[in-house]
Amino acid sequence: MPKLTPLLAQYQRIKEKHRDAILLFRLGDFYETFYDDAKRAAKILNLTLTSRPCGKQHRVPLAGFPYKASETYIDKLVKAGQTIAICEQLGDAKSSRELVYREVVEVITPGTVCRESLLDTRRNNYLVSISSDGERFGLAFCDLSTGDFRLTELGRNKVLEELERIDAKELLMPSSFQLKVTGPVRSLDDYRFDPHAGYERLRQHFGVASLSGFGCEEMKLAHGASGAIFSYLEETQKRTIDNITKLSPYRVEQFMWIDTTTRRNLELLERIRDSGREDTLLAVLDRTSTAMGAREVRRWILSPLLDLQAIKKRQDGVAELLESERRKAIEKVLLQLGDIERLISKVALEKATPRDVIALRESLTRLPAVKALLQDFTSSYQREIDGRISRFDSVCELISSAIVDSPPSTSQEGGIIKPGFDGEVDRLRGLTSSGKTLIAEMEAKERARTGITSLKVGYNSVFGYYIEVTKPNLHLVPEGYMRKQTLVNAERYITQELKELETSVLGAEDKLKEMEHDIFCRVRKEIGTVTDRVQESARAIGELDVLCCLARVAKENRWTKPTVDGTDRIRIVDGRHPVVEMMVAGGFVPNSCELNGTTQQILVITGPNMAGKSTYLRQIALIVILAQIGSYVPAKDAKIGLVDRIFTRIGASDDLSRGVSTFLAEMNEAANILNNATPRSLVLLDEIGRGTSTYDGLSIAWAVVEHLHNNPVVKARTLFATHYHQLTELEYVLEGVKNYNVACKEVGERIVFLRKVVPGASDRSYGVEVAKLAGLPREVIERAREILENLEEDEFLVPGMPRLAKSKDREVGPSEQLSIFSSSLVNLKEELSKLNLEGMTPIEALNRLFELKKLLDSHK
Ligand SMILES: Nc1ncnc2c1ncn2[C@@H]1O[C@H](COP(=O)(O)OP(=O)(O)OP(=O)(O)O)[C@@H](O)[C@H]1O
Ligand SMILES: [Mg+2]
Repeated sequence: MPKLTPLLAQYQRIKEKHRDAILLFRLGDFYETFYDDAKRAAKILNLTLTSRPCGKQHRVPLAGFPYKASETYIDKLVKAGQTIAICEQLGDAKSSRELVYREVVEVITPGTVCRESLLDTRRNNYLVSISSDGERFGLAFCDLSTGDFRLTELGRNKVLEELERIDAKELLMPSSFQLKVTGPVRSLDDYRFDPHAGYERLRQHFGVASLSGFGCEEMKLAHGASGAIFSYLEETQKRTIDNITKLSPYRVEQFMWIDTTTRRNLELLERIRDSGREDTLLAVLDRTSTAMGAREVRRWILSPLLDLQAIKKRQDGVAELLESERRKAIEKVLLQLGDIERLISKVALEKATPRDVIALRESLTRLPAVKALLQDFTSSYQREIDGRISRFDSVCELISSAIVDSPPSTSQEGGIIKPGFDGEVDRLRGLTSSGKTLIAEMEAKERARTGITSLKVGYNSVFGYYIEVTKPNLHLVPEGYMRKQTLVNAERYITQELKELETSVLGAEDKLKEMEHDIFCRVRKEIGTVTDRVQESARAIGELDVLCCLARVAKENRWTKPTVDGTDRIRIVDGRHPVVEMMVAGGFVPNSCELNGTTQQILVITGPNMAGKSTYLRQIALIVILAQIGSYVPAKDAKIGLVDRIFTRIGASDDLSRGVSTFLAEMNEAANILNNATPRSLVLLDEIGRGTSTYDGLSIAWAVVEHLHNNPVVKARTLFATHYHQLTELEYVLEGVKNYNVACKEVGERIVFLRKVVPGASDRSYGVEVAKLAGLPREVIERAREILENLEEDEFLVPGMPRLAKSKDREVGPSEQLSIFSSSLVNLKEELSKLNLEGMTPIEALNRLFELKKLLDSHK
């Protein structure tokens, strides 16, 4: 190992402490990265990787970017999932010739970012921590940018689902843990999750004798997880985390359980096909006006309530706003509010700029207007919200008197403090401006004294103030001028008097900047003392915003207030799908639904492809979710008996990327349903058993329905859409099963979808007609009709083998049937030899394999 230069030795010392971060090492006007960091950074940032000599024949890889443009580079690195350690020069680079002292001042990780440029205003950015005693799990999670801190404890079977719901940006896990999760994970030493130490840390942080005030005294495992979060935050932020002012414990049992598959299938937040955000329940529902409201409505969608009173409280809140003239006025004020929650967090973490502080004031001064508008409201939620919103008159006054109205974006360059706020600032300002006048006077005086009319006093950052005399006048330069610099046409001098003036002017300027910065920090600290009250107000505003938004959506879309109760009944009159309704403007056909635990427990829904079965299933689930959020619902009338969980098995959600076949994925989901559903649950089964051969699929589907019907522990209310007509026979043997179908009629050879769900089984499947709609060649359609007829006449050649190939024109036997099969083999062979395996990705190859197998299966 060659001997390191002192600089690299310093680098190594610092890097040692930040092994898993990219260390940005400040060198003058640049941030530099070295070694592997340089290689990683160069790749992500598209920088040129250079190298720097270090001893003989040894070069160190190096990549850097200018400090001035660092924001965008750092953002890019964090977005790429990297952790960044920012190492600054803390000593004075000018004054000492020795190595400048350097230290890491901030570590940015995906779960701890606070920069606006990296945050989505409409979503929380959670750092999650997990601990376990082998049996149960403790979770704690925190959005550092808002100060939101929540914790819970739960059993093994729900941990992964809950982690997905929280949508962790970074997960802290004890290093002895083996939990397979996606996303960035940081392993920390096990001792950092110690429950006892965690408890003490929480007590200390909040300055309380016990945690019972927060309602989480007993959550031992969550204490451990919380302790790890606090230590990690302090380590990365290099300071105490003053924006966390309370703990919000919860139990997963408080909320309707919506597993990950169901959340995806129902497209609550994202579209299935491309993860887009349009055409989702969130897109329809989120008409909020503030960032706090946007984050809140997202949380509401993911956690529908199970407590009837809490649901009613929200409903009443929405109802009153819906009828009130004042809603629009409230929305107007809300629209003018900034992200108060994040602004106050920046204040508490001493990251707020002068502009942030002004933005905060702009918002806080509008709170009394909101309170005034709330005065006439009587429902308990509005009363509570009004009580939670404080007035911040003195804070606003402080800001107004201290900080100028349009301050610069940094606190180091001066120009922040208003005249009249601080005597010393005013004096120094006077001094710098009078100093400048003195210098101007001196210039005039020297011109007169020397007779050099072109004599100038100038300034540059290297020499400070100087007197410049052009070459032709040099003979007039008097005694006492000291030469400092020679230019092509002129000489520059300094004098004793000029230097003295300079010291007082520049000294005053530096001092002024420093002083303004100090005063700004003091003011910021002062604002920080009301962090908890501002946060509470901001959160109340968020909830008010969601209530307004629900009222607005209900009004604009003609939704009605559902009755939610403790019965086992789900009765929807003329329900609509909230998202599809928007897409088929005006043309949506409403449908009713009656479910209960006895006579209408399982509805088997048949009907042709494209009829609207899946839409119907989803719309019922979405109406239930909306009702339990406290929202109005798209229906003429709805009575919803509380649903504890929604399970879905919808569509062929091939999960090739996870290496699970359609059929296996489907069976996993079915198993999950049968193992976890309760009589309070709502189960949607859409074409279960489709991914395998007919008889297998049918048998499985049949058995699943029987189990759901007969097993009293499971006995969930179920909607079952299927193409297996045989399943409609279940109605005759099981009391709780009822048949429905989505009606359509034939007009000549065409099929017309009526979109109406009616009692009884559908008479046939119309698959061939739909195929025709899709433009399959005429010969194929006709031939398909023929084969279908044969099948429907139950023409079997040998037991179990339909006489598929029987044709009106020609009589065929088993040999010809074989020939269909063997001709498909020829096709297969051809297809296989055409494949260009080198040019395919594994997924493409797998997809192709699926198609080929299907081709083969279709002829079996
Ligand atoms: N009630 C309705 N009113 C108007 N249009 C509807 C209605 N229900 C469904 N549609 C339209 O019909 C399309 C097909 O509906 P859907 O996917 O629910 O059919 P499906 O019966 O599940 O078909 P498949 O058997 O092929 O899965 C939807 O995309 C929607 O545009
Ligand atoms: Mg469907």
